[in-house]
Amino acid sequence: MADADIGLVGLGTMGAMLALNMAEKGHKVAVYNRTLSVTEDFVAGAGELAKNLVACDSYQALAAAIRKPRAIVLMVPAGKPVDAVSADLADVLEAGDMIVDAGNANFHDTNRRADEARDIKVMGIGVSGGAEGARHGPSIMAGGAPEAWERMKPILTDIAASYDGQACATYMGPAGAGHFVKAVHNGIEYADMQIIAEAYGLMRDGMQMKAADIGDVFAGWNNGLLASYLTEISGKVAAATDPESGAPMLDIIQDRAGQKGTGRWTAIEAQHLAAPVGVIEAAVAARNISAAKDVREAGEGLFGAAPEPLTLNLDMIEGALIAGKVICYTQGFEMLRRASTAFEWDMPLPAIAEVWRAGCIIRSDMLNDMASSLRDDPDRLLMFAPYFADILKTHVPALRWVVGASLGAGHPIPALSAALAYFDAMRTGRGTANMIQGQRDFFGEHGFERTDRDGSDFHGPWAAKR
Ligand SMILES: NC(=O)c1ccc[n+]([C@@H]2O[C@H](COP(=O)([O-])OP(=O)(O)OC[C@H]3O[C@@H](n4cnc5c(N)ncnc54)[C@H](OP(=O)(O)O)[C@@H]3O)[C@@H](O)[C@H]2O)c1
Repeated sequence: MADADIGLVGLGTMGAMLALNMAEKGHKVAVYNRTLSVTEDFVAGAGELAKNLVACDSYQALAAAIRKPRAIVLMVPAGKPVDAVSADLADVLEAGDMIVDAGNANFHDTNRRADEARDIKVMGIGVSGGAEGARHGPSIMAGGAPEAWERMKPILTDIAASYDGQACATYMGPAGAGHFVKAVHNGIEYADMQIIAEAYGLMRDGMQMKAADIGDVFAGWNNGLLASYLTEISGKVAAATDPESGAPMLDIIQDRAGQKGTGRWTAIEAQHLAAPVGVIEAAVAARNISAAKDVREAGEGLFGAAPEPLTLNLDMIEGALIAGKVICYTQGFEMLRRASTAFEWDMPLPAIAEVWRAGCIIRSDMLNDMASSLRDDPDRLLMFAPYFADILKTHVPALRWVVGASLGAGHPIPALSAALAYFDAMRTGRGTANMIQGQRDFFGEHGFERTDRDGSDFHGPWAAKR
């Protein structure tokens, strides 16, 4: 009987949790997994919720189980698996049905799939919050045709996290817009994690603090402007002890981090959009540098380890982190604004800040203030909004002190340094690109604008002297 509200393909970590979340909210879900035993085990282990699950052993059975127009969520790895499953589903779906890719797709792929799909609608939804979020309330960034969103909206708003009673699931625009917003979310996530890691490094190497004490500091900061999921878990990570050795967990974890791709995509797309996201770029680069541990160790052998103790205090580091955070989120929202204009997406920037307030990895109360500032004036640079300008006036001196002291003593803090560089550039009315333009005209006769009259094709006196 075709009475399931929705279908779901891929009962891995995320898909299983999402299906249980939907079932718990009263939606009947037809589920399919490539490996049949996974489907059977999943439904058998769902307890009470099994009454809202329909186990399907083929795509035909899946299509037959869902009410029309059918909506099928994919939770399979991004890339070829999504193309393969979409092609198989196309054989069993009808005009008006929809495929909803909820994995971490590259938004270019989602755009392509939306273009290629004829009668079937393609949605791309970014889902953040990991397995726990998927089970109990993720943040959802949806892209696709407006009518596809209307079909999915009741289910997505039901399963999403909520902030002050408002569901963290929002329509971001056509086709790949949802996956684009998710990529920028992940870019900001990289940057936020990196500046927190740099603050940890300043406490560990600059102030010679022990991990447990650093944990207490993060826990304290979590009561102030830095209150956020990432600050909270950083405190818990720093405070934890390795059950095997009894040593602080952080001292046992290898200092090498990888990247799955979305942070890198954000940095690449930022270049296409001419969006300056230096803090995100620094965070992506820092992960790449972290992975090259052998080279770093060789460098230490060659040049000596950096750190001398630093003259810092915890208030300065907290202030630097606050300023760095405002600046990195400013860059992320600026990138979204540029994408919205370039792709004619008409993205709802204040609603994006709202959708990130709960459920996702970068959730924080500061995002609520960002939403208010963006609602107040969506076209203004976020850090120029009075509330955030005041925060920066208060805390940039700490950022400047921390960056200056760290650079002087050789502590690597690339993301905080990039934040300060951006801040200073954005409050410099007269920059130095006049020299760039002079150079370009000198070697390539590219022409330049003058400060004293209109027009763009003026040349310097050097041509005659060549
Ligand atoms: N894990 C997270 O925290 C998280 C957070 C947000 C977004 N995501 C995204 O969510 C998606 C799923 O991630 P996950 O962590 O749930 O992955 P996962 O645990 O590895 O599960 C992958 C699922 O996809 C199925 N699958 C793989 N290749 C397939 C193919 N070619 N055809 C059909 N089915 C195939 C697997 O089926 P079998 O059982 O047959 O192998 C399995 O059910 C990814 O895009 C990921 O980036 C993950």
